[in-house]
Parts: sequence; C-alpha cells; structure tokens
Amino acid sequence: MKLSIPHINHSDTQSLKSVMKSGWISTSARIVNEFEKKLSSFCKTKYSIALNSGTSAIHLGLKILGVNKNCEVIVPSITFIATVNPILYLGAKPIIFDVDQYHNLKISDVIQFIKNKTKFKNKRTINKNTKKEIKAIIVAHMWGRACDFSELTKLCKKRNIYIIEDAAEALGSYVNTKRKKLKHCGGMGDIGCLSFNANKIITTGSGGAIITNNRKLYLKAQYLANQAKDDTFNYIHNECGYNYKMNGMAAALGISQLKRIKKKISLRKKIYKRYSLNFKNQKNIKLLSFQEKSKINYWINIISFKMLNFNQTYNLSQKLLKKNIETRRIWRPLNLQTFLKKFETYNIINSNKYYLNSLCIPSDEGLSISDINKISDYIKKYYKIIKLNKNS
Ligand SMILES: Cc1ncc(COP(=O)(O)O)c(C=O)c1O
Repeated sequence: MKLSIPHINHSDTQSLKSVMKSGWISTSARIVNEFEKKLSSFCKTKYSIALNSGTSAIHLGLKILGVNKNCEVIVPSITFIATVNPILYLGAKPIIFDVDQYHNLKISDVIQFIKNKTKFKNKRTINKNTKKEIKAIIVAHMWGRACDFSELTKLCKKRNIYIIEDAAEALGSYVNTKRKKLKHCGGMGDIGCLSFNANKIITTGSGGAIITNNRKLYLKAQYLANQAKDDTFNYIHNECGYNYKMNGMAAALGISQLKRIKKKISLRKKIYKRYSLNFKNQKNIKLLSFQEKSKINYWINIISFKMLNFNQTYNLSQKLLKKNIETRRIWRPLNLQTFLKKFETYNIINSNKYYLNSLCIPSDEGLSISDINKISDYIKKYYKIIKLNKNS
C-alpha cells in the first residue's frame, strides 16, 4: 500500500500512441501548446509554460525574476530540496523560515522579519544583517495544503519583493481569498511552479510548468526555456537559455491525465475523510489538517505521534513496512541539511519538532476504504506496542 504512485489508464496509452504515431514528440510539438492552454484554463491563469520538471520551473522562475548572486530568497524549512537548490544554482542565498501548523511557510514570521530586520533603500529591500537584497519569497503549498499568504502580498508589493509559489504538490488546491474567491495555488503570486512527477496528482512521467498572469514574465520564460532562440534560421541566441521545455509525449499524457483530475481528487478526499474518522478520537495520533475554507487536492496525508521520538517513529514505520504499508518521514527541514547549515535561519521551532515524529502515510488514489481501515488499525496497534516498550 503505497504513498502515491502513477495511474496510467487506457486513454493515457491511446493518447501517447497517437502522438508517437504522428512523430510530433519533441518540445516543438503543437500538443505542448495545447497542454499549456488547458493548464491555464484549469488554474485560471493567463499563461502557462510547460516544462520538463518542477525543479526547472523553480529555476527558470527565479531566473526571470532576476535572482542572482547578490540576492537572497526566503524559503520555508519543510519542503522538498528542489525548492531551495535552484536558488543555489543562481549563486543566491536562501534564508530559511519556520512553518505553521499546516507545514506551510509561517507568514507572520516573514512579515515580522521584513518589518524589523530589513530596510528599504533605492527601491530594494535590504537584509540589515547581510546587506544583501531580498529579491523573492518562495511560498510552498505543502502536501497539497493551500497556504494563504494574502497578508504578505501588499507588503511585498510595497517592498519590491517577488512571490514565487512552489505549487509542485498543489495542482487542484485553492486558497480562499479575503474576497471569498477561490484562487488556484500558483495563481496568486508573481509566478507559480507545478510538478507532474510520477508521484503527483497528475503525471507526465517527469514534468512541470510555470503559471503566471504577467505577460512579460511569460514571454521571458518561454524564450529562456527553449534555448533563447532569437533567429532559428541563422541560429542566433542573444542570451544563455535552457533546454527546459516539455516534450510532446509528456504533454499528450498530461492532457489525458488532466481530464481526470476531479475524479483523482475526489478519490483522495475519501481517503483523507476516512483517516480523519479513524484517528478522530486518538489523543496522541494526529492527522495533518488544512487551512479552513481552503480547498485542497489531498495529495499526501501526514500523521504525527505525540509521544514518540525519532527512533520510535522509525521503528513504527519499519513494522508497517512488514505489513506492506509504505511510509516515509516528512521532508527533512532545510536547516538540518548539512550543506545548507551555513545559511541564515529565522526562528525555527515547529519544523524540527514536526520532523521528529511525523510520517507520510499511504494516500494513493487506488487505495480502498478497507485498505485505509487496515492501515489505520496497524498504525494504532503498533503505536501502542512501541509506546509500551521503553526499549524500542
Ligand atoms: C515541494 C516541491 N517542490 C519542487 C519539486 C520538484 O519537482 P520535480 O520533481 O518535478 O522536479 C517537488 C517534487 O518533486 C516538490 O514536492
């Protein structure tokens, strides 16, 4: 019983076959534009650029916003490593912040930091400590749980700080804005980044996208993603570009998968609801919930064990594995990654605690309610055994 695996059906294979027969399999296939249009329509953004991974999307996003070696970028501590690596590709520095009870960037801390620890000079926000410009903030919608960062938007506009949404895990998740309008994750900041990796809500094998409402950023991203071609006949390139576009086969799979996204989310919602019911009366086992009034894609479920330590949580996961139940720890906080230890952190408390005793539990759309009941029962049973056994 798996965390999350790809589900390829007959329509997917037919779409793939058809694009392969046509020969239009490269990044210049028209079907890539078709996928981009469908994505924009689904996310309700003006533009989308289909790419070969979510990591490329974040890298390109930072690049077109002008992040370089003189800049700093704020990131949440609990996220996949691909949120932070592209900052380093560009020679910039991350500043690592804590997360809130939903594992999302602690917005109140970021506001406090900008107000107290930076100054605004020559239209740039300067970190008083390092004297470097804070160019962007990456807000990640963790495990598909929508992060409402609306309070930050005004301040960032005033301070010329860009907001990039890492919505790699959040296709089909929406924030309920103050105007009571549901906005798709990735469509509220300057740029949103999506991933269609094999474990995601929909997959193109490997793939990603940038979504944005800003035409200038859109044009720049399209240009750089496709080798910065200024004259295709004479092979003139006026900038250093990337080979980041999605290919035709991936786009065909994406279009086919996107047709089923509502069904996929409803299957995952049932799983969340059942876990929620099964753990309702457990004092020491807590299922991660989500921000009220947001609408989420229920990508991955997380449980935390109040009374277990790091090793006991590992032992529990090993016992579950013997019953064919796959679990993993949550993303290791960036501040605990050795190669990132040299970077500035701000007030990190929750993330380190959550990492000790939280596990990602099977959330795959193919799981039945009886599977979920079985998983829940084993979790409760082993939790009790491990808690009673002081030596474990
Ligand atoms: C939060 C987050 N950011 C970025 C990525 C990178 O996406 P990709 O694997 O498509 O490069 C992922 C997932 O894989 C992710 O979970």
